[in-house]
Amino acid sequence: MRISESKIEEIRNAANIVDVVSEYVQLRKRGRNYIGLCPFHSEKTPSFTVSDEKQIYHCFGCHNGGNVFKFLMEYKKISFIEAVQELAEQFGIELNYDDSVPEGQSEQEILFDINTEVARYFSNNLLNDGEGQIARDYFQKRNIKVQTMRAFGLGYALNGWENLVSFLKQKNIDLEKALQLGLIGRNKDGRVYDKLAGRIIFPIFSPNGRVVAFAGRKLREDDTGGKYINSPESIIYVKGRILYGLSFAKDEIRKLDKAIIVEGYMDLISLYQAGIKNVVAVSGTALTDDQAQLLSRYTKNVVLLFDADTAGISASMRSIEILLRKDFDVKIATLPSGEDPDSFVNKYGKDEFEEVIKRSENFLEYQTAYYEKQGMFNDPTKAAEAIRELVRVISLVQDDLKRAFLVKISRKFNIRENLLERELDQVLSKNKVVPKFQENLIDTKHNISTKLFDEKIRKFSTPQNFNFEIEIIRFLFGNDEGTSKYILENVDEEDLEYEIHSYIIKKAKETYNTNLSFAPGELLLEFDDEVRNYILSWEKKFITEKNYDTDDNIQRYVQESIRRLRERNLELKIKLLTEAIQNTTDEEYKKKLLIENKDLINKKKELLKFSGIS
Ligand code: UTP
Ligand code: MN
Repeated sequence: MRISESKIEEIRNAANIVDVVSEYVQLRKRGRNYIGLCPFHSEKTPSFTVSDEKQIYHCFGCHNGGNVFKFLMEYKKISFIEAVQELAEQFGIELNYDDSVPEGQSEQEILFDINTEVARYFSNNLLNDGEGQIARDYFQKRNIKVQTMRAFGLGYALNGWENLVSFLKQKNIDLEKALQLGLIGRNKDGRVYDKLAGRIIFPIFSPNGRVVAFAGRKLREDDTGGKYINSPESIIYVKGRILYGLSFAKDEIRKLDKAIIVEGYMDLISLYQAGIKNVVAVSGTALTDDQAQLLSRYTKNVVLLFDADTAGISASMRSIEILLRKDFDVKIATLPSGEDPDSFVNKYGKDEFEEVIKRSENFLEYQTAYYEKQGMFNDPTKAAEAIRELVRVISLVQDDLKRAFLVKISRKFNIRENLLERELDQVLSKNKVVPKFQENLIDTKHNISTKLFDEKIRKFSTPQNFNFEIEIIRFLFGNDEGTSKYILENVDEEDLEYEIHSYIIKKAKETYNTNLSFAPGELLLEFDDEVRNYILSWEKKFITEKNYDTDDNIQRYVQESIRRLRERNLELKIKLLTEAIQNTTDEEYKKKLLIENKDLINKKKELLKFSGIS
């Protein structure tokens, strides 16, 4: 369906953006605009702005912005058409479908409509039909309430060959389309028949809550056929792109910023009924790339809760990889053997279940524990294999910071850290092209571009350097004022190679310079949520090996860390300059580089003298 431009304009004029946004975000008037807490990223001070005058919104924190349609699309994760329809309805504007031109969309619309009709029919069988008693009994035995059946649109397909077929005919529904949707089948002599007959029905919804497919579960374990029969893929159903239950769970997932992934339909439904609503189900396979992508719209934090059988473990392992590649934070929860989330929550209740989630482990702990249980660490060859596998997975973690953290925690289960680090370096260097110094990295005035240098240097960063920097940051916000001051007076932002660290130092120094008396804790208040959380996360997570008993020792440690960082910076610059000198043919330029290089070498000498090494 296409809606004419003038209709869209009419709706835009009717739907004042301030009113629409106000339904979802608490807005306050400030000057000519309205401000509020951004619904698209987490923040404590408002940077989300709505302009009545311009009829647009913009967040200065996450840069999300646009008109009223865009707001709804982003907020509700719906399409443009759906946003238009929703506002039209809300503001009483009739969409005149007569002047709309049928387009590629329409085929999908027809299929959606068929599925909706059929879902209603199945649901009615379950709730109201005499034969449905058998299915009602089944659900009752499984502790599913009527209210839950309604919420998930659960149903029952009457037993027999053509109950659904008759219904479709009665409703004038195109049987070819029903065949396409896998609702009915056609046998050799051309007769059509019900495909899910005698089964209980789970409609499968798109993220916007439209019925894209059905799953039919057999009622008795000894019934013929597979346990579940699922709709085939169609133009409205691509299995790998749907997460079962997402339309029900998305708000809660966004609110809690966490999703629990389970295997089965019943798992999700039972958890939801018990009040655990941030759950999606993968339907018995490993997560796909597309599913991870879909989920990432709502959260980047995932707890995998698969069955503890072999299939579940291998699905977990594969899902971990897919999630890590998409930069998710992945935890694994495990249930007592023999239980699945459905049986567990029915037996032990919500609180116990939440304990299980709280006890979930980092994926690395999980994998290591698994290899340990397999006895892999008892045999040197197998241990090497296990470590290589672990390292391969760690190397998928996008973020350097996270990776360094993971290497750290690996120590907890006796994998020697340096062993892991060495393996990791090897894996990473395979993927990394060691940058070759090229003249085009130098600007036209023949001055070394610091920025490009910085980028190159960053590529050489090692976990050790990272650790030095983190220690410095931690001490800066520690409880000792003397140490904080020492750092503020002795560390330069250029000393730190990670952007976030040099930003922290720079900002802390600015604060310090304008206000010389301070408590280190107060410095924290100068940072926005994101940076502050970053700092605090290290406070909590970092496992310091050394015992710094006196302030003096801390300062000596900081001093040594700075010296090492500076030395490494200088060494890299010298190395890059030397290469450039060898490669250039421009004599005048070469001379400049030589002078610069000599300067750096002197600086390095000084640095070493200062530390007493020389
Ligand atoms: P399970 O066998 O664990 O079933 O398969 P379940 O969901 O726990 O169902 P109950 O509790 O026995 O009733 C997990 C998921 O794998 C998919 C389904 O999505 C199911 O929910 N599956 C399983 C199939 O698609 N087909 C099958 O034949 C079996
Ligand atoms: Mn089950």
